[in-house]
Amino acid sequence: MRIRRLGFFALLLAGILWLLPSSPTAHAQSGTLAATPPMGWNSWNHFAGRVTDADVRAAVDAMVASGMRDAGYIYVNIDDTWEGQRDAQGNITSNSKFPDMKALADYVHSKGLKLGIYSSPGPKTCAGYPGSYGHEQQDANTYAKWGVDYLKYDLCSYGGIMKKEAPGDQQKQWEMMQAAYEKMHQALLNTHRPIVFSLCQYGFDAVWNWGPKVGGNLWRTTGDINDSYDRMSVIGFAQAGLSKYAAPGHWNDPDMLEVGNGRMTPDEYRTHMSLWAILAAPLLAGNDLSKMDDTTLSILMNKDAIAVDQDRLGIQGDRVRAVGPFEVWMKPLAGGAKAVALFNRSEAEYPITVQFKDMGFSGVVHARDLWSGKDLGTLHGSYTAMVPRHGVVLLRLSK
Ligand code: GLA
Repeated sequence: MRIRRLGFFALLLAGILWLLPSSPTAHAQSGTLAATPPMGWNSWNHFAGRVTDADVRAAVDAMVASGMRDAGYIYVNIDDTWEGQRDAQGNITSNSKFPDMKALADYVHSKGLKLGIYSSPGPKTCAGYPGSYGHEQQDANTYAKWGVDYLKYDLCSYGGIMKKEAPGDQQKQWEMMQAAYEKMHQALLNTHRPIVFSLCQYGFDAVWNWGPKVGGNLWRTTGDINDSYDRMSVIGFAQAGLSKYAAPGHWNDPDMLEVGNGRMTPDEYRTHMSLWAILAAPLLAGNDLSKMDDTTLSILMNKDAIAVDQDRLGIQGDRVRAVGPFEVWMKPLAGGAKAVALFNRSEAEYPITVQFKDMGFSGVVHARDLWSGKDLGTLHGSYTAMVPRHGVVLLRLSK
């Protein structure tokens, strides 16, 4: 009886502690920062080096007006080329394209969104602008002062430092790389502002093994994506096997979305969005949000696909079967449901079958097609769908 009562009080205490607000540092450490894969927009894929303050404000306005914000796209991330010179005290400033970063952050926040920024552990970013080398704490403090909520930290010229300091010693170079990320992680923690930490070093040294240890909330697993089916599919389908490294607070990042940039067909963009959702990948739109057609909007804003990506269990999906160019991927969802994607990587439409027992179901299954929005009713044993060339059929299966 006494033991039972003790157990009750322990449970009550745990409940109270769980409800109490935790400090930002505790957030960053407990993994509740980026509890689901980060969603938002990033300037690079469309604007690259041309991005300005006005473009970012236009993206913010479009995120609100289109309903993207309310669908979960929260981060507005400025990529490379915002950086100006350091002042006499060594503080980083923004260049003439971004006249007042604090004012921009205030604008982003006033719309219920969060601001992301970009730097490098090296002396120069990939586009040749000043990086954070030797100024890590100072830069973290500046970001916090501006109100930055997300940092993408891109290896770039730090690769040169590694080679110079440990020539020919790959192991030592990898250790230096990890230490550089850990250094910025500590600097961010010291600001006491919750800042999502996005590692960008193209997957070197199997980053998924050590990304969480250096505070990464997400880590790029590959080189850069571009707006082509070939590159997107090579990157996306090469994520097979990485599911066990993802968890709430720590995500594999196969790079940002190209949906809406114009060089893929609607079927190919639906493949892109479906695969990223199955992968529990960060969903960072990379198009010009101020000029979106209905197809782009319907793909980025498919609430069912977003729900697959953002499922609260945070289990990354993986490949279950591949027969030549025909692949079946599955992601477990809360409540015992499963998202199942039938991908056709071939050059012609083709029927693909999913056996429910391969997805872990016995008995009848309820199915919904998440792109047509159709309820497929109760099904027995298997389902066959005609899948277009480079296309996908995305299903939600439940008991
Ligand atoms: C690297 C990154 C890209 C982008 C550019 C900016 O190539 O992988 O995502 O940030 O740098 O220069």
